[in-house]
Amino acid sequence: GGATRDRLRIAIQKSGRLSEPARALLASCGLSWRESRDKLFCYGETLPVDLLLVRDDDIPGLLADGVCDYGIVGRNVLDEVGADRALRGLPQVSKAVRGLGFGGCRLDIAIPESTEWTGPAQLQGSRIATSYPGLLQQWLDGQGVQATIVNLSGSVEIAPRLGQADFICDLVSSGATLTANQLKPAVTLMTSEAVLAGPITPFADVRGELASLLLRRLDGVLRLRD
Ligand code: PRP
Ligand code: ZN
Ligand code: MG
Repeated sequence: GGATRDRLRIAIQKSGRLSEPARALLASCGLSWRESRDKLFCYGETLPVDLLLVRDDDIPGLLADGVCDYGIVGRNVLDEVGADRALRGLPQVSKAVRGLGFGGCRLDIAIPESTEWTGPAQLQGSRIATSYPGLLQQWLDGQGVQATIVNLSGSVEIAPRLGQADFICDLVSSGATLTANQLKPAVTLMTSEAVLAGPITPFADVRGELASLLLRRLDGVLRLRD
């Protein structure tokens, strides 16, 4: 948990698919920022709500450390940290507070285009490259399948061609990256979208009131978008 603070900090992706829609959503909640020169920390003007611009993958850790209070991140990234903590017997520290309706994608196992998919048993004894080892391990356990997970933080789609893995497990949005690497989707582990991630335990200081105000405004904005 973090120290007592009188301002809220929200972490969003610095650059990537979620950056612009996340910023626009918060702006439509009436937030505005005076940008610092390096633009990694944006000081809230209309409300004491500051923005941190970070790598999306770092957002769950920032929440866990209490360095930020909320984050806008893919459910897949949040659930990966949750799965990893669960596999290690650790308690959960943050949760998805609201689904935000953008950044939709799937976490799929993909296989070479020339391979016929016969079902999860086909994965037995194989090597699967992924950036989502926790979610993949949980799913494999549920299927009763044993496989070797090859952990890569990016460019996962290239692993089969390099002979580093037989299959991959990665996010699919348009499907263009799979096609470009002669892979095809075989099975979906989860569907995902951007979520507002926040604490499991309520704030003990003035951030509690700020958080309720923010969530009320967010619910208003999300209702109008429906
Ligand atoms: C995902 C995923 C693929 C790509 C798929 O990366 O890792 O590389 O998007 O998209 P497509 O189906 O539209 O081709 P992401 O945008 O999450 O970036 P990151 O891995 O750098 O965080
Ligand atoms: Zn990422
Ligand atoms: Mg990627």
